[in-house]
Amino acid sequence: SIPYIVGSKSFTAVAVNTASKAGEWVKSRLGAIQNVNLKTSTSDLVTEVDKGTETLIRNLIKTHFPTHAILGEEGVGAGSTASAKALQEMIQEEYLWIIDPIDGTTNFVHGFPFFCVSIALAHRGEVIVGVVYDPMLDEMFVAEKGKGAYVKGHTTHVSGEKELSHALVATGFPVDHTVNLPRNMAEISQLVAKVRNIRSGGSAALHLAYVAAGRLSGFWEHGLSAWDIAAGSLLVQESGGVVTDTEGKPFTLAVRNVIATNGHIHKAMISELTEANAAG
Ligand code: IPD
Ligand code: CA
Ligand code: CA
Ligand code: CA
Repeated sequence: SIPYIVGSKSFTAVAVNTASKAGEWVKSRLGAIQNVNLKTSTSDLVTEVDKGTETLIRNLIKTHFPTHAILGEEGVGAGSTASAKALQEMIQEEYLWIIDPIDGTTNFVHGFPFFCVSIALAHRGEVIVGVVYDPMLDEMFVAEKGKGAYVKGHTTHVSGEKELSHALVATGFPVDHTVNLPRNMAEISQLVAKVRNIRSGGSAALHLAYVAAGRLSGFWEHGLSAWDIAAGSLLVQESGGVVTDTEGKPFTLAVRNVIATNGHIHKAMISELTEANAAG
């Protein structure tokens, strides 16, 4: 079995404390951002808060677990050389922390209060701890492999809707519009008439946490990265839901096109997505 405790340090406690400190910092910088820089397009943003928060998270993890590898979206701060290694290589590591300092940077920049800190720990490519922290609502979603998931002391459970017509689902619009937008549009027009409604909040990690907590019946998005989904995927699984790629193949950290649901509507959603893509 995988040791969750090394010496006196629990992986989960470090993940939770780190996410809490990082989230407080992000929240304190809301409305006080100094530098908004474009990465690949006008839809792909990074601020000094993203970078500073990633550095803070990396330093805290390094202090507790100096031998562990770290993969972070912004690739800054302590041990950042590791982020240059290919994901396939990194997920072979015995312990790999996968962090997104702010998931929902666009929201953070615009003051739309829907963003989070996402921290996961993978053991040889399998996520064993996942933490998603929303500092605005002070909601800490925590999952441990095989031990369930909880938020604010309450166990999380996926929702019970069995029919697409009763389902509230979410999706996201990836920054790489050229590849993903036509597919997204086809899928939305296919699904919008079949489900109760569709939301797009702008944070993949929080959408996954909301599927885990039963606030959304399902979520899908193309072109995601490991740091968007590592923690959230475990939250969904440990809350009784199902996570696969959009064709129904098993979830791994290398999957880019993700669907997560309460399980009941999983097959039906995949067939609608397949139909949308066949038509388009
Ligand atoms: C983004 C958010 C967004 C999703 C994008 C992600 P970021 O992450 O999760 O909801 O649509 O695909 O890149 O850049 O804000 O960390
Ligand atoms: Ca980003
Ligand atoms: Ca992200
Ligand atoms: Ca981010």
